[in-house]
Amino acid sequence: MSLLRPVGIVGTGSYLPPRILTNDLEKMVDTSDEWIRTRTGIRERRVAAEHMAASDLAVPAAERALAMAGIRAEEVDLIVVATATPDAFFPSTACVVQERLGAVGGAAFDILAGCTGFLYALGVASQMIATGAHNVGLVIGTEVLSKITNWEDRSTCVLFGDGAGAAVLAPVEPGYGILGVHLGADGTGASLLHIPAGGSKMPATEDTVKNKLHTIHMLGSEVFKFAVRIMGEASLRALERAGLTKEEIDYFIPHQANIRIIEAACKRLNLPQEKVYINLDRYGNMSSASVPVALDEAYREGKIRKGHNLVLVAFGAGLTWGAAVVRWNLEAPPEAGV
Ligand code: UT7
Repeated sequence: MSLLRPVGIVGTGSYLPPRILTNDLEKMVDTSDEWIRTRTGIRERRVAAEHMAASDLAVPAAERALAMAGIRAEEVDLIVVATATPDAFFPSTACVVQERLGAVGGAAFDILAGCTGFLYALGVASQMIATGAHNVGLVIGTEVLSKITNWEDRSTCVLFGDGAGAAVLAPVEPGYGILGVHLGADGTGASLLHIPAGGSKMPATEDTVKNKLHTIHMLGSEVFKFAVRIMGEASLRALERAGLTKEEIDYFIPHQANIRIIEAACKRLNLPQEKVYINLDRYGNMSSASVPVALDEAYREGKIRKGHNLVLVAFGAGLTWGAAVVRWNLEAPPEAGV
């Protein structure tokens, strides 16, 4: 007899800071709305207020997810936050969120896997609940990328946005929930996407600040090639673990980095446009927040129904990748109007 129990998503939530930054970035760098739209699919992104940290975005997203699940914060005994922009090195942003939610007592920690962070967090948390070690998990992807963006670098500053998404995990009825997870990494690509300074290898100095070494550095075209290959591959590996084929995908929630990367993945998986959620035109790449925000919006809009097989997939710094197959266990919410 298996000691593992089925675990699924029983609530989702998201929070986007209200300030919108359109492609009107040509005042800052040598770019154009046309270049950004055609090369990436992005039209605008959100930017958090100066005083806002990752936890400030995570808390309202988590509160919305808990409200949907009908679960009180005190019942949460596991919080995993995926972020590349934590409030501070330590304590973990998960501990800050735990205190703010009033969920004190359970385990709380952060995961760093770049834009794949939410998939890593989902994989780890779901397995901690499947074993019976924990009962109610809160998995959050939250990013304030605007604070680590070099606003003079046109190759990165047009791409990213701020936001947070959350999912509540709990045991669900057999046959539903997270059916398969595949996570992977290739550290040989570490230098393709990184922040050079600020860690123990290159602590902050006047020079590191002056040379903008605390911001995102990326070799975009190399990451692009990797992403085009890995999104489809990771999805197929997760499907294999779930015992499903690509023909059985009902809805696809990819990391929102570039519309051309998503299109390549859809081609590999034979997925028509209506089975794919896209919000990068409105939010840009929100790193670990992209997948949970897309999941929350797709569900609230009625695109996802009980019994649907979903594939969530992402890639990011590391280089890392991850995919999860979820058989959705919730009826559409009233606001979906279906
Ligand atoms: O979530 C993981 C994070 N990273 C990613 O997902 C990034 C994946 N990569 C990409 O999405 C694409 O590689 C980019 C959108 C970053 C770049 O698109 P690309 O088609 O790979 O362009 P490229 O880097 O090969 O650059 C083509 C040209 C270059 O000019 P030259 O050398 O051909 O004269 C760039 O300097 O486009 C230029 N360029 C720009 N031009 C106007 C780069 N950024 C810009 C810009 N505006 N913002």
